[in-house]
Amino acid sequence: MSSGLSVNIHPSLFPAAVRHDLLAALKARRVPSRCHYESLRQAQKWLDLHRAYAPSARDPDCGSALTEAYRVVTGTIRARRVELVGLCCGDGSKEAEMLAGLGRAGKAVVYRPCDGSLPLVLAAALAAAQIQPRETIHPQLCDFQNAEDLASFLAPAAGGRQIRRLVTFFGAVPNFSPRLVATRLADILRPGDQLLLSANLIPGRGSRQDWERLRQQYDNPLTREWLGLFLSDLGIPATAGQLQTIVEPCPEASGLRRITVYFRFSQPVEVRIYDESRRYRTGERLRLFFSYRYTPELLSGMLGKKGLSLAGQWLAQSGEEGVFWLRR
Ligand SMILES: C[S@@+](CC[C@H](N)C(=O)[O-])C[C@H]1O[C@@H](n2cnc3c(N)ncnc32)[C@H](O)[C@@H]1O
Repeated sequence: MSSGLSVNIHPSLFPAAVRHDLLAALKARRVPSRCHYESLRQAQKWLDLHRAYAPSARDPDCGSALTEAYRVVTGTIRARRVELVGLCCGDGSKEAEMLAGLGRAGKAVVYRPCDGSLPLVLAAALAAAQIQPRETIHPQLCDFQNAEDLASFLAPAAGGRQIRRLVTFFGAVPNFSPRLVATRLADILRPGDQLLLSANLIPGRGSRQDWERLRQQYDNPLTREWLGLFLSDLGIPATAGQLQTIVEPCPEASGLRRITVYFRFSQPVEVRIYDESRRYRTGERLRLFFSYRYTPELLSGMLGKKGLSLAGQWLAQSGEEGVFWLRR
C-alpha cells in the first residue's frame, strides 16, 4: 500500500480565513501574492515562468552563488541533528540541494517545507522524499502574510539545543512588504538559528535602463498568462482591461522601488465571489503583483535593525541576485 503524507495546515489557510482575506483584498483593489500559486495550473505556469526568467534558473553564476552559500553555511554546523525550515519554499528545489549536502555530511535532518500553495509544498516534500526518509519530512501550509503566530507554529517540537536550526527564505523577499519581511523573519529566528535567503537585486547603478530591463522581465506573454489565471478564475475576462507593468516607489517610504503589475479596467465589471459582489469601474486598477528590488546594503540594513546580523553574502556577477546569510 502506498503511504500518504500529512500536511500541517495553519488556521490562516482554513477556508473562512482564505475567504475573508480575498474579499478584503479585492475591496482594497489588490491581490494577495499567495493567490497566484494556489491551483495546480497556477503553480505549473509559475514554474514554467520561473525557469524562463528567474536569474537563479537562467544564470549559472547565480546557481554557483547558491551552491557556495550552502557549502559554507552547512559546513559551520557541528551538531549531528539539523532542522531545515524552508519558508515560501515553492517546489523546494533549492532546499533539496541543501538536504542532499547535509545528508552527505552525515547529518540527521528534519525538514519542514512551508508554503502557502498546496501543490508547491507537496512538490517540495516529494522532492525531499527522494533524499531522506518520508517520516523526517513535515510539510506546513501557511499564509506567511497573515500568520502572526508563525514563529510558534514553526517552533521546533522537541530536541531543544541538540538540534541546529537552519531557516531558508529563497526568492520571496521581493513579494512582501519590507516591513512584513523584516518582522516575520526576526520573529521566527531564535538565538543560534541561521537564516539563508536569496533576493533579486537592482543591478548596476539602478539607472533608468536597468529598471526598464527588469520591468520587461514581467511584461511578457508568460507572466501575463500566469497572472491572467487569477483573473479568469474570478470571472474577469481578459478583454475587460489591460495589464500595466510599471516601476513605482515603495508606499512604506523604505527608499525601495518595485515592479508592479496592475489590471486596468476598460469597462465596468461586477465580480461575484462567495455570494458577495465587487464592482470595478472603467479606469480603476486592481494591483495584481509586485516585486521589490533591493541593494545588498538596503537588505542587510533592514534586517540588521531587527537584530539579524549579516554573516556572509554571495552576489552573482550580473548583480541581479544575492544570497545572504544572517544570524540572530
Ligand atoms: C517567488 S516564489 C519562490 C519559491 C522558491 N523559494 C524559489 O526560490 O524558487 C514565491 C513562493 O512564495 C509562496 N508564497 C507567496 N505568497 C505567500 C504567502 N502569503 N504565504 C505563503 N507562501 C506564499 C508561493 O507559493 C511561492 O512558492
